Amino acid sequence: MISEIKKRIKQAESFNSNDPDQIEKFRLEFIGKKGYIGYFFKKFKSIENSDKKTYGQLINELKKITLDKLEKLKAKSTFETQESLKAIDLTLPSKAIDLGSRHPISIIRDKIIDVFYKIGFDISEGPEIEDDWHNFTALNLPLHHPARDMQDTFFINKDPDLLLRTHTSSVQVRHMENNEPPIRTISPGRVYRNEDISSRSHCFFHQIEGLYIDKNVSFADLKQTLIYFTKELFGKSKIRLRPSYFPFTEPSAELDIYWGLNSETDYRITKGTGWLEIMGCGMVDPNVLENCKIDSNDYSGFAFGMGIERIAMLLYQIEDIRILFENDTKFLNQFKNSI
Ligand code: PHE
Repeated sequence: MISEIKKRIKQAESFNSNDPDQIEKFRLEFIGKKGYIGYFFKKFKSIENSDKKTYGQLINELKKITLDKLEKLKAKSTFETQESLKAIDLTLPSKAIDLGSRHPISIIRDKIIDVFYKIGFDISEGPEIEDDWHNFTALNLPLHHPARDMQDTFFINKDPDLLLRTHTSSVQVRHMENNEPPIRTISPGRVYRNEDISSRSHCFFHQIEGLYIDKNVSFADLKQTLIYFTKELFGKSKIRLRPSYFPFTEPSAELDIYWGLNSETDYRITKGTGWLEIMGCGMVDPNVLENCKIDSNDYSGFAFGMGIERIAMLLYQIEDIRILFENDTKFLNQFKNSI
């Protein structure tokens, strides 16, 4: 046993390396849990009494030599790593951190919000799972009204009163129920319709709807607000209002903007007319005001609603709506500058 320790002493004395892995291996071999030193200590009891003194001294010597050696080698190896650092150009820029980008839908939503925020609109939000009253009935679309067919709806099987909202007009109803006029609010959010998925339509999309209720609000106010909006967002102020139908507004209109016919793309997206449909709008039907406990003799107002995808597709010249929901980083990285 004594000669065994002496052998290990020699081994520890002669060990040399500047490789951190090798040094760690040496440390484990000697002072690790299952290392030599622990083993020799355990054997101490079984050593002849006459040899115990020498045996003990030798183990202590081995331990000291090992620890000294480790200290020396470790210091040397960190010194060498520092030396090798000098060979690297520390002024080199570090690896860029990948920041990601904002989604085009969020970018356009915020742009639209900014435009209306400047003229005093606040933002209101509501649930995506809605009840029949807020999505349809309060909006002058009673049960079995044929106009309900305009919006293919996802109803929830267990409860016919619940559905995935088909527009954010439901948020306007909630807002009117809970606030006194004057009301100026826009309601951004996701909506759902049972549409076949294609390059132009999806079973969910995003809307921003607007509502303005006060005394003596007229159609002229609606038109002026829309001219302001189209100027701010598109830089275009030639608009036209085409008569249309929505159950919750009377009269109702579609807003078209004159996009121009300067390029082949302009011809394609405007189908050769130069005009583009942007949103639906109209004067809030007095029945809707009454349903929300607002006196329609005192108050009037206008409302409008648009799809964010449609506007994003126009502004960014995106051909297929589906790419907006595929999380393809090659597509999304193109919006990095818009943070
Ligand atoms: N809620 C309508 C839709 O989703 C849009 C709209 C809002 C039309 C307000 C007129 C007034 O189609």
